[in-house]
Amino acid sequence: TTARGEETEHVPVWCMRQAGRYLPEFRESRAGKDFFDTCRSPEACCELTLQPLRRFPFDAAIIFSDILVIPQAMGMDVQMVAGKGPTFPDPLKEPEDLQRLQAKVDVDKELGYVFKAITLTRHKIEGKVPLIGFTGAPWTLMSYMIEGGGSRTFSKAKRWLYRHPEASHMLLRMLTDVIVEYLLGQVAAGAQALQVFESHAGILGPVEFQEFSLPYLRDIARCVKEKLKDAGKDIPMIVFAKDAHYGLEDLSQSHYEVVGLDWTIDPRSARERTGGKVSLQGNMDPCAFYAPKERISDIVKKMLEGFGTRGYIANLGHGLYPDMDPESVGAFVEAVHQHSKQMIKQK
Ligand code: CP3
Repeated sequence: TTARGEETEHVPVWCMRQAGRYLPEFRESRAGKDFFDTCRSPEACCELTLQPLRRFPFDAAIIFSDILVIPQAMGMDVQMVAGKGPTFPDPLKEPEDLQRLQAKVDVDKELGYVFKAITLTRHKIEGKVPLIGFTGAPWTLMSYMIEGGGSRTFSKAKRWLYRHPEASHMLLRMLTDVIVEYLLGQVAAGAQALQVFESHAGILGPVEFQEFSLPYLRDIARCVKEKLKDAGKDIPMIVFAKDAHYGLEDLSQSHYEVVGLDWTIDPRSARERTGGKVSLQGNMDPCAFYAPKERISDIVKKMLEGFGTRGYIANLGHGLYPDMDPESVGAFVEAVHQHSKQMIKQK
């Protein structure tokens, strides 16, 4: 409802990484198990997705999975290394390496485990809140596939953009095609909204963003919506391009109903720059969870006043960190509900 700009009783709220290591029950479920083995178990994904909902009155669930299941489906090996994060033992080095990739992916065969997790979770939620499916965006996935893991500069991946622009576009196109099929599969399995994570938008400048990120983000939304329309379905889509403040106007005209914001953007100026064309989602700095609880309530109040209560989904500007206190998350959710209910009543 909010994604479409209609008013609700209170502003809806969820948190990126709401299923995560900050919850003791999450750490217990994950203990001693390989990360991607967990992703491949529909029962485990369902349980991890539901854990935060048992604790807090979140207004949405996001399926537990990872963006890097797509490079895996295209034939790349990806490991989650403790203390290091995602690691590709054999990353793409030169354009010839594209031949190693599976260009046409049978998503039901390679990613059917995600679809099963979504269907199972959708049943278990019993309609209480919508279930969000997600994907990584082409540039973010490409940057991992070339860099081989996290990086401060992502200079290996950016080298491709400057030295091998044609091969870069070939790879981005391949990823886009797989992503469209993957998102359609998630909707068929029961996802009720879709978020596209362009987590590495910020390492691009405005010119590179225009060429290597935005056209693919647009294509994804356009193709998914076109195919869903043929099936008589209409699913809201959220684009979260982290640190892409330079691209905000364009993002608000890229066929997504909702634009997610990181904490570097001021709510009022985000509203002005997007001209009421889209709903907005975000954008409290997750580090505000280190503040005392009364302070969290004040921060939330200011954020709500900045965004307004209409066409707004409260969230963080990026995911929660493992050392955060679950009680702060509870205070955040409560503050969003309380303050927004009051603001709506006073209108
Ligand atoms: O609750 C949720 O948000 C849903 C689940 C979710 C995960 N990953 C689970 C996860 C989602 C939406 C993602 C997306 C994802 N994965 C992104 C895009 C969002 C963002 O953070 O910008 C990215 C870049 C990844 C790649 C990835 N996976 C990273 C960088 C890490 C962190 C590694 C680390 O050691 O901190 C992961 C692992 C991961 N994915 C965890 C979770 C809960 C933590 C590791 C664990 O559970 O053992």
